[in-house]
Amino acid sequence: MAETESALQAIENGLAALGTRFRDAFAKAENEQALRVEQAKVLGKKGELTAVLGLLKGVLPADRPAAGARINVFKEQVEQAFSQRLKEIHRQARDAELSALPFDLSLPGRTELGRGHLHPVAQTRDALLAIFRDLGFAVGAGPEVELEANNFTKLAFPPDHPATDMQDSFWVDVAGAQPGARTLLRTHTSAVQIREMSSHRPPMAVVSAGSVFRRDDDLTHSPMFHQIEGFMVDEGVSFAHLKAVVGAFAERLYGPGTPVRFRPSYFPFVEPGAEVDAGCAFCVRPDGSHAGCRVCKQSGWLELLGCGMIHPDVLRHCGIDSEKYTGFAFGLGIDRVAMLRYGIPNIRLLFENDPRFLSQF
Ligand code: DAH
Repeated sequence: MAETESALQAIENGLAALGTRFRDAFAKAENEQALRVEQAKVLGKKGELTAVLGLLKGVLPADRPAAGARINVFKEQVEQAFSQRLKEIHRQARDAELSALPFDLSLPGRTELGRGHLHPVAQTRDALLAIFRDLGFAVGAGPEVELEANNFTKLAFPPDHPATDMQDSFWVDVAGAQPGARTLLRTHTSAVQIREMSSHRPPMAVVSAGSVFRRDDDLTHSPMFHQIEGFMVDEGVSFAHLKAVVGAFAERLYGPGTPVRFRPSYFPFVEPGAEVDAGCAFCVRPDGSHAGCRVCKQSGWLELLGCGMIHPDVLRHCGIDSEKYTGFAFGLGIDRVAMLRYGIPNIRLLFENDPRFLSQF
């Protein structure tokens, strides 16, 4: 008898303790998963109630149904508390959803056709032009079929320069052209310098982008490719201005702190002329040194552009007083920057216009 008494008492105590614990735990559960975990701790096979059920062994058989019923009532209480808290959790989640930023009912629906976008070369061209516009350059343009004078002669190319050869350039006959005025697909955007300097007076700072054409065709050369040309003419323009503009451009393109180096080089329309490399943005370490990588062929430098001080002859060819004015010019390939920017290994991919390729950009 006494045994039964104390077993019943132990069950009562167990249930009382469990009762406080689960109510507390359920109230603290913040989501459905946490709540289910708490419920399992009470009602699960290895749960706390199973331990209390074990105490039934100490209860006389005659008293067991009453004790079992008592435990069942407790179980129902747990289940009731569980479903109540679950409802609460769902309501809270729904309330949070409703009071969150509303979704936009006016958004257009999905359509069958994907939306198009600019070609990666056009995206790169626009990004590069934007940098120069920010630096104060105006944007000019010139035709793709150009006069020999603008493409070569006024840029001080000697008549026997290899670029002027039939093998290197696409010479074209234009119906109705002035006799003796030879025309070709422009081999570079430098011709825009001549057009702009012949039609405007300094001070001037102009950039221009577009297609250029050369008889070249391999993994890294396409007979049609793209360039950006820029120049600035005013009184007192010096190489220091050129360095400042090129340095600012490199930093905006490849990140703050990107170094540039000038290597002496030759272009007929500039003197002195230089080729500029920028520190490789692909293997630069936090301290500014370079690890060396495949992109920069372990050199730590990437070719960026050609540039120089505009040759006085070129200014004169455009009717600009070369005693009074000086200027700098630069030119760079857009396609190469696009290939680096997007990790494109073969220039041809850019011009095959395969949608499976283009849709990746
Ligand atoms: N026109 C040159 C080319 O096609 C690039 C160039 C070099 C442009 C030096 C310039 C310059 O304005 O100053 O390779």
